[in-house]
Amino acid sequence: MLNFTYQNPTKILFGKGQIANIGAEIPAGARVLLTYGGGSIHRNGVYEQTVKALAGHTVFEFGGIEPNPEYKTLMQAVELGRREKVDLLLAAGGGSVLDGTKFIGAAIPFEGAPWDILTKRSPVKTAVPLASILTLPATGSESNSFAVISRAETSQKLAFSSLFGYPVFSVLDPEVTFSLPPRQVSNGVVDAFVHTVEQYLTFPVGAHLQDRFAESILQTLIEVGPQTLAKPADYELRASFVWAATMALNGLIGQGVPQDWSTHMIGHELTALYGIDHARTLASVLPHLLRVHAENKGEKLLQFADRVWGIREGAPEQRIEAGIKATEKFFESLGVPTRLTAYEQVKADTPATVAHRLTASGMTRLGERQAVTPESVEKILELSLA
Ligand code: NZQ
Ligand code: ZN
Repeated sequence: MLNFTYQNPTKILFGKGQIANIGAEIPAGARVLLTYGGGSIHRNGVYEQTVKALAGHTVFEFGGIEPNPEYKTLMQAVELGRREKVDLLLAAGGGSVLDGTKFIGAAIPFEGAPWDILTKRSPVKTAVPLASILTLPATGSESNSFAVISRAETSQKLAFSSLFGYPVFSVLDPEVTFSLPPRQVSNGVVDAFVHTVEQYLTFPVGAHLQDRFAESILQTLIEVGPQTLAKPADYELRASFVWAATMALNGLIGQGVPQDWSTHMIGHELTALYGIDHARTLASVLPHLLRVHAENKGEKLLQFADRVWGIREGAPEQRIEAGIKATEKFFESLGVPTRLTAYEQVKADTPATVAHRLTASGMTRLGERQAVTPESVEKILELSLA
């Protein structure tokens, strides 16, 4: 196992009715900026519950944060936050609202152009703290330090991480996710699955517990994902899905092990170019990436086939391929395509374009062995377009 230093400061308020308890978590006299997306919180009761729970606090509002949160929109919230001197941000929504709010918090006190946080990796030395009310289980943003921000004018989608990105507290009430359309539930299951894989399908370092953590999350998603899609108002099923998605990317399973993340980096380019949903980009990259890098990842791919899918028969190459096929079948069973050919807007020159864009951002040696080069990115995307 590799050395690690681990601290996750986010306090989790899990379960039915937990929004009602946020008042006690917010200091008296705080000036709160409530941020949200395109209006789902007005339709599923989250807005009413939140406003009620915030009674007695000074609250400002900023709505309209779009999926794949846009820099220009977020900068309007930065202006509002600076003008009103807010001292706590409360994000109510999915990963996009949470990520966008992490950026708003970092940008409010930032000296200079906040876009530098993403392009120049300018350190975030301070930020307005945030808390969250999660309405879409998928990204893990509710208890991690990451955020991914898009900028339409330059067609970029870039990530940053900061200690200030951890929400002070996050409410995870499975009931507020019942209103999700099936497409977002499927996306969430796939995103959480791929987060787990990016921290698991690398090479063995003798981290027995982390492997078992990862395998148990994958198995839970395989078991509960299709069921929660079929029965969206079943509390027990949804609660297990919500917690699995949080655990997939709150840092725990990734401690002391190599990590990959190349599927995500390639996927972000596909969203920036073609607007494809985040999880859908991952599903159309991961299986092909695993094939191209089957040799590098061989030992863990065999373990994955065995422990996650129960595949124990055949030569090693056959077992590896069967594990990848089972993964594809799982994604497809959720209605999530595993080939870029499913998207009309994807052009034939995409493999070269994505390889070029990653190179331009300095991402030429991705993955746990730095083996995902521009050449291999082209191969992966050619397989996805075959
Ligand atoms: O905008 P509203 O009206 O709220 O509607 C949203 C949006 O249209 C809707 N929605 C959310 N909760 C709902 C609901 N509709 C009905 N009922 C509810 N309870 O769902 C739509 C999609 O929301 P979005 O927040 O975009 O989805 P998701 O949570 O999948 O987030 C995706 C974003 O997170 C980034 C992605 O790149 C993408 O930008 N990621 C963030 C990560 C992180 N912070 O660690 C890691 C991930 O790998 C990912 O890159
Ligand atoms: Zn993701």
